[in-house]
Amino acid sequence: MRVLSGIQPSGIPHIGNYFGMMRPAVELQDQGETFLFIADYHALTTQPGPEDLRKQVEGIAIDFLACGLNPGKTVFFRQSDVPQVAELTWILSTITTVGVLERAHSYKDKIARGFTPNSGLFIYPVLMAADILIYQSTLVPVGKDQKQHLEITRDLAIKFNNIYGEIFTVPEAGIRESVAVVPGVDGQKMSKSYDNTIPIFGAQKTTRRKIMSIVTDCKELAEPKDPKNCNVVALFKLFANENQLKAMRDNYRAGNYGYGHAKQELFELMWEYFEPMRQRREELADNLGYVRDILNKGGEKASAEAEKTMSKVRKAVGLR
Ligand code: ADP
Ligand code: TRP
Repeated sequence: MRVLSGIQPSGIPHIGNYFGMMRPAVELQDQGETFLFIADYHALTTQPGPEDLRKQVEGIAIDFLACGLNPGKTVFFRQSDVPQVAELTWILSTITTVGVLERAHSYKDKIARGFTPNSGLFIYPVLMAADILIYQSTLVPVGKDQKQHLEITRDLAIKFNNIYGEIFTVPEAGIRESVAVVPGVDGQKMSKSYDNTIPIFGAQKTTRRKIMSIVTDCKELAEPKDPKNCNVVALFKLFANENQLKAMRDNYRAGNYGYGHAKQELFELMWEYFEPMRQRREELADNLGYVRDILNKGGEKASAEAEKTMSKVRKAVGLR
């Protein structure tokens, strides 16, 4: 089994990223060979600026290592250290219909939110397919929002194989239904682009303030409340054990337990959960040379792996 995933270095990672992708990737390290990269080519579609991009790449590398990524087990690298993915993107784009890309949710959402699309944004799913296929990945752990991208990837792999012969492994998406979509403070999907996140490593005061701003209904303190449709409970569930969750649900149903109480409990549990990772992160931030070294070595390994696939691809399509 070869596990692969990628994360964009835009913005500050939040608990949606953590439960949807970072923790599953860390857990999968023990089950097979894992490749994990920081998607800096993808990030260019929003033109972050050179200094910000470099800083964000290192920032996310530190965050991932703090959250349990083990560079002894996982090949951890920058997407752009393997320029062969850009080459494969071009080749795959020649078998991708425009209609498929026009139907991609990520593209449609951005348009609906008023972004002026560049063609990089438009072919984003093709670059993602190249990322996955170039390493012959078998399992790709991602959040539910990436499901359509994985379907496009599988379709492209099958189509390419049909035209040019069996070159690519057709990958599976590893979506955990239980934590598939983590809600943000406004109840929509938590996302860096929606300004509704709770960062993993925010300052204590800010984290508490964010949690206190989670949207709930307007029931009075004394009234019984419904734990089923509450954003606070949905987030608490991610950190709580069964007893803690049952206690909160019982409190909701009993009444005389306000949303403020529930939010305070969520804050305390979340703060405690990330405490060891916070400490590790501080150590890593003081040791950037070590972090860069990990990424450079990972890039070399990944590039060697990608080259194996690319030499087959070039030959199959008639380029060499
Ligand atoms: P964002 O939407 O904040 O920009 P990304 O698109 O960079 O996040 O996603 C990085 C990874 O985290 C992806 O695998 C994505 O599926 C996962 N992810 C992002 N937001 C959530 C969420 N709210 N719930 C679950 N997983 C998420
Ligand atoms: N598109 C993914 C996201 O926004 C990031 C990504 C790029 C990715 N390439 C990938 C994820 C390949 C998994 C596999 O979250």
